[in-house]
Amino acid sequence: MLKTKIAIVTGATSGIGEATAKELAQNGTKVVLVGRNFEKGEKIAKEIDGFFIKCDVSNENDVKNMINETIGKLGKIDILFNNAGVMLPSMEIERMPVEDWEKSININLTGCFLVSKYAKPYIVKEKGTIINNASIAGLQHYAAGRSYAYSASKAAVIQFSHQMAKNYGEEGVRVNCICPGIIETPILGDRDPKIYAQRVPLGRVGTPEDVAKVVKFLVSDDAKYLTGCVIPIDGGVSL
Ligand SMILES: NC(=O)c1ccc[n+]([C@@H]2O[C@H](COP(=O)([O-])OP(=O)(O)OC[C@H]3O[C@@H](n4cnc5c(N)ncnc54)[C@H](OP(=O)(O)O)[C@@H]3O)[C@@H](O)[C@H]2O)c1
Repeated sequence: MLKTKIAIVTGATSGIGEATAKELAQNGTKVVLVGRNFEKGEKIAKEIDGFFIKCDVSNENDVKNMINETIGKLGKIDILFNNAGVMLPSMEIERMPVEDWEKSININLTGCFLVSKYAKPYIVKEKGTIINNASIAGLQHYAAGRSYAYSASKAAVIQFSHQMAKNYGEEGVRVNCICPGIIETPILGDRDPKIYAQRVPLGRVGTPEDVAKVVKFLVSDDAKYLTGCVIPIDGGVSL
């Protein structure tokens, strides 16, 4: 009998996280949706028969409680998708408020660390898998625009993923990192995604589902020999 897998998806109240939660649930995975927006989280959880847990990933106590609640309710964790993130307005560094820098690092990087830290013992028990959501903005060869804090936080997520993959392989845990390109979600704010389409070799911006399907593959047994991968999902825009 196939045992139900338990997945935690952070940032599941919108965009890529929401699409991934739905994709995994469709595949029979029980999903714990994590985010700060209670109404949206509860609504999506209801739709997919999952659980929503309100949690700010940059707050250690929230994260500890979220993992404890997951274990209390579902007993185990097989899959962690560290996806929660923010992209604050880009600007020259002399104009950038320290608060913006700290918020980007605290949510995008420290959040990924905190959730991994508290989930890891349970993921090891199940020989499970972690996917971290970075961005093409964090790739070494791709220094576009002025998203200093965002790009630095995402580059760090890539290296954090490499190290976890190398060190936890012998514990049976696979860790991979995805780097989406320009994906049409609320994180783009008032930027018109259509303007970017002409720069994309595949001729369009991505959808949250384009990313969700890659995550579904990476957490599946079809990807059982993949660890430490950094996978652009960008229609070729980072080339
Ligand atoms: N869209 C793109 O073009 C693109 C490209 C590359 C990488 N990415 C990455 O993809 C990830 C998802 O972004 P998206 O495009 O789907 O944007 P989105 O629609 O704005 O979703 C962001 C998600 O992160 C959650 N979040 C933000 N801060 C949080 C916090 N402190 N604690 C818990 N959850 C938090 C939000 O939930 P709440 O508001 O409920 O907290 C929301 O569910 C991000 O890491 C982003 O950097 C996106």
